[in-house]
Amino acid sequence: MSITIDGPAGAGKSTIAKIIAKVKKLTYIDTGAMYRAVTLKFIQNFVDTKDAQQIEALLADIRIELIGDDIYLNGTNVTEEIRSPEVNQLVSEVAKLSPVRKKMVEFQRTIAAAQNVVMDGRDIGTFVLPDAAYKFFLTASIDERARRRFEEQRRKGFTTSLEDVKSEISNRDRIDTERELAPLIQAEDAILIDTTGLSIEKVVDKILSYIQ
Ligand code: C5P
Repeated sequence: MSITIDGPAGAGKSTIAKIIAKVKKLTYIDTGAMYRAVTLKFIQNFVDTKDAQQIEALLADIRIELIGDDIYLNGTNVTEEIRSPEVNQLVSEVAKLSPVRKKMVEFQRTIAAAQNVVMDGRDIGTFVLPDAAYKFFLTASIDERARRRFEEQRRKGFTTSLEDVKSEISNRDRIDTERELAPLIQAEDAILIDTTGLSIEKVVDKILSYIQ
């Protein structure tokens, strides 16, 4: 049994998905973290997103591992680094690239074939796991999503302003929605949950009420 949770940035997907995974004894898979790790490698290696050869070389040399709540890029723990403002700025441009998506989707499907997962992202219900048992699409108003991300970033020690966070996530949502390959969209058979004004517990209860 697999569960997919998609939606725009800051809708609460990962917080909720982690709790659902724990309650239902499933493995939580954060696909955004994978695209972020690839983006970090683009930044570290000064790779141009328009240079097909450089992209191919980078992807041939990339190793991503998810161990517990941590993510490793070629053996280095990058859990904190992938949440930096630099990665936020570039990730949606990197996630648009066909060879990047191909490699990540393959990786995600391999993981889901071996175990029962709660997988969150943008295209999980529509493209990565279209046959998942339960699909949810989480959203919230842009102001609430920006506020949540702002608080999260502040706790992590980053000093971005609320206005900057808001424009960064709006920009990412626009690129994610408008891209050609597996864009951000609610799957026809996904249950829509607007989390604006809802506590984490309320959202978790709502989701659990749909799962047998
Ligand atoms: O979930 P998170 O905000 O960490 O995702 C970062 C970015 O990774 C998204 O804005 C999107 O560009 C990309 N992404 C994607 N497909 C997924 C998950 C994330 O394109 N399944």
